[in-house]
Amino acid sequence: MKAIQIAENGGPEVLKLVDLPTPEPGPGQVLIRVKGTSVNYADIKARQGRYHGAPPLPFIPGLDVLGQIVAIHPESPPVFSEGQWVVAFPRTGSYAEYTVADIAHTFALPPGISHDQAQAALLVGVTADQVLRVKGRLAPGDSVLIHSAAGGVGSTAVKLAHIYGAGKVWGSIGREEKRAWVEQLGVDGVFIYRGRTYADDLLAQSGGRGVDVILNGLGGGTLSEDMRCLAPLGRLVVFGDTLGPNLIAPTVLYPTNRSVIGFSFGHLRRERPDQVAAMVAPVMDLLQSGQLSVTISERFPLDEARLAHDLMDRGQTVGKILIDVA
Ligand SMILES: NC(=O)c1ccc[n+]([C@@H]2O[C@H](COP(=O)([O-])OP(=O)(O)OC[C@H]3O[C@@H](n4cnc5c(N)ncnc54)[C@H](OP(=O)(O)O)[C@@H]3O)[C@@H](O)[C@H]2O)c1
Repeated sequence: MKAIQIAENGGPEVLKLVDLPTPEPGPGQVLIRVKGTSVNYADIKARQGRYHGAPPLPFIPGLDVLGQIVAIHPESPPVFSEGQWVVAFPRTGSYAEYTVADIAHTFALPPGISHDQAQAALLVGVTADQVLRVKGRLAPGDSVLIHSAAGGVGSTAVKLAHIYGAGKVWGSIGREEKRAWVEQLGVDGVFIYRGRTYADDLLAQSGGRGVDVILNGLGGGTLSEDMRCLAPLGRLVVFGDTLGPNLIAPTVLYPTNRSVIGFSFGHLRRERPDQVAAMVAPVMDLLQSGQLSVTISERFPLDEARLAHDLMDRGQTVGKILIDVA
């Protein structure tokens, strides 16, 4: 099969289109013919050698997939049939014509969800829902600051915040060019985090109270800036570190009952594999009812995956980028 393989860590040029044997499903697994996949920032980190959940080199990147079942291990329970359309979090990487997935992490594509949405929404939908609703415990009327609001997770989280009845919804961006794109999502204000402070502006816009929930996949200096504008009883959810590490002193939390909460889907998937289906179900419901629609901005064929990585490396993407395989 054709696949993108990463044999050494580095820039987008290490994504090589190669011929590899088609993987075989083991007990409890299925083989999926890939229609398409999506680019997630974790793919960038895995390529660079910075992702804690990446397999050892060489590996095929890709964390979510849309495709059709083509083989089922004889010892697998009869959950799926050949030809059935599914989405999955695969085991063997999805930048490939075929991938293997555990049945527990493979989900029948419900009627009413388009192939494009199925291809785009799995990881960003689950992540945005978990960080906002489960970890952030967003209640109706709560205000929320969503960092990198133009990104895949960020723009999806803005949409979910509206669906869940948030009060004020603020977004951050790294650079001015994305402002109009984030404004059209219906946010109440946009802040630039790169090279700037924003806590004072956010405090001013919130009447001095601060924001109830902050979603931060950035790390770096934004974390201490976030603590300056996190409201009493507020929740700061940290789920990425594109800007690097940062230390928050726990003593800034207890006097006003504030919390910092971590989320990693990859870690949860390994540690609590039986909980993944319950994380996927609410996202599927929102997609099926048409309430949620992930914004797809660009798509690339498999052999041009490196162009998609180059765009995301440079922080120039908005919404979701797809890789079409078949
Ligand atoms: N923990 C989890 O389970 C989980 C799951 C999915 C995603 N994530 C995290 O969520 C964040 C967003 O992921 P995504 O897939 O939706 O990506 P994305 O937001 O679509 O793209 C990445 C964005 O990050 C910003 N950025 C900040 N520093 C960057 C850097 N050094 N290099 C490139 N871009 C940089 C850029 O936007 P701006 O300049 O506008 O900020 C860029 O467009 C990432 O931190 C990712 O690791 C975590």
